Amino acid sequence: MVCSIIVGGQWGDEGKGKIISYLCSEDKPNIIARGGVGPNAGHTVTIGDKKFGIRMVPTGFPYREAKLCIGAGVLVDPDVLLKEIEMLKEFNVKERLTVDYRCGIIEERHKIEDREDKHLSEEIGTTGTGCGPANRDRVLRILKQAKDIDELKDYLGDVSEIVNDALDEGKDVLIEGTQGTFLSLYYGTYPYVTSKDTTASSFAADIGIGPTKVDEVIVVFKSFPTRVGAGPFPTEMSLEEAEKLGIVEYGTVTGRRRRVGYFDFDLARKACRLNGATQIALTGLDKYDKSCYGVREFEKLSDKAKEFIEKIEDITKVPVTLISTGPEMKQIIDLRKEKL
Ligand code: GTP
Ligand code: IMP
Ligand code: MG
Repeated sequence: MVCSIIVGGQWGDEGKGKIISYLCSEDKPNIIARGGVGPNAGHTVTIGDKKFGIRMVPTGFPYREAKLCIGAGVLVDPDVLLKEIEMLKEFNVKERLTVDYRCGIIEERHKIEDREDKHLSEEIGTTGTGCGPANRDRVLRILKQAKDIDELKDYLGDVSEIVNDALDEGKDVLIEGTQGTFLSLYYGTYPYVTSKDTTASSFAADIGIGPTKVDEVIVVFKSFPTRVGAGPFPTEMSLEEAEKLGIVEYGTVTGRRRRVGYFDFDLARKACRLNGATQIALTGLDKYDKSCYGVREFEKLSDKAKEFIEKIEDITKVPVTLISTGPEMKQIIDLRKEKL
C-alpha cells in the first residue's frame, strides 16, 4: 500500500499535471483523488501530440483503470466539471468519477464577484473563477454543497470512505494537490495568496484521510519558477531576460503571462519543510539547459544540470527522484529505484 501526495513547491504551475500523469501511467494507482482549492487550477497534460488543460477532473485521468475522486475540501464549478467530463469522454471519466457529496459549489454570482470586486481582481489578481467568494460563503455556512445540485447526482459519493477503504485493503492511492506552497492562505505571501491552505496536510484533509496514512509527499519545483497575479517574487527576472532565455509562459486558465524568476534555493528548503517532503520532482530542466531536452537517463545530463540538482538536494536534504526534461508525459528521468 502506498499513499502519495503531489504538491506544488512554489507559486503553482510547477508542472504537477505532467508529473501526476507520468506517475499514474507508471505506478497504476487504484485511486486518483484531487484535493486543492477548485477550478482556479489549470493543469496541462500532454500525451503524444494531444494537449489537455484540466481544471476539475483529476489529472491522472489518462490511466484508465483508476477510480477518480474529488475530495470534500474542493470547490466544484458544475459547468466546468460537466464540460470536462464530456471533453474527456474517450477516457471514460464519467464512469469512474466520484464527487464527494460535501464539496462546496461555485455559483455564477461568485464568479461575477471575483471578477468585479476591485480588491480581488485588481489588487490580488485572482483567477476570476469564483473560488475566494465561494470559500467565504462556505465559512459563513451558506454555500451550497454538491448534494444540493441535481446535475451532479450521478457522481455523488463519500470520498473519505472510498479512499480509507482502499487503503485498508492495501491499495495504492495518489492524491493530487493544486496551486503551490507560497499561494497558501497560511504560509504564502499574504495577502497575495489563494483562499485556502495549499500544503500537503490540507490536501490529506481535503480527501478525508489522516496524516498517519500518508507515505510519500512529492514536492514539485520548476527550474525557473513562475507566478501569475500580484505579490512578492524575490528572484523575479525582467520580461526581456525571460524572452532572451526563451522561457516565457502563459496561464492555462486565464491566459495571463506568467512572471518568471530564478530558482530560489532557500524557498525550496522551506517548501520541503512545510510539506514534509520525502521526494522532489524537478520540471523544466530542458529550460535550465537546452541540451537536456527529452533526456531519459541521468548520466546523459550535462554537468551544469547535474550540479543544479545536487545543489537542490544539498540545501533541502530531500532526494530529487523525478526529473522532467520536456512537457510530454514520457520526457522524464525516474530515479526512484536508485534513490529510495
Ligand atoms: P496548477 O495546479 O495550476 O498550479 O498547474 P500545474 O502545476 O499542473 O502546471 P501547468 O500545467 O499550469 O504549467 C506547467 C507548464 O509547463 C505546462 O505548459 C506544461 O506543459 C509545461 N511543462 C511541464 N513539465 C515541463 C518540462 O519538463 N519542460 C518543459 N519545457 N515544459 C514543461
Ligand atoms: P484565486 O485562487 O483565484 O483567488 O487567486 C489568488 C492568487 O492565486 C492569484 O495570484 C492567482 O493568480 C493565484 N493562483 C490561484 N490558482 C493558481 C494556480 O493554479 N496556478 C497559479 N496561480 C494560481
Ligand atoms: Mg497551472
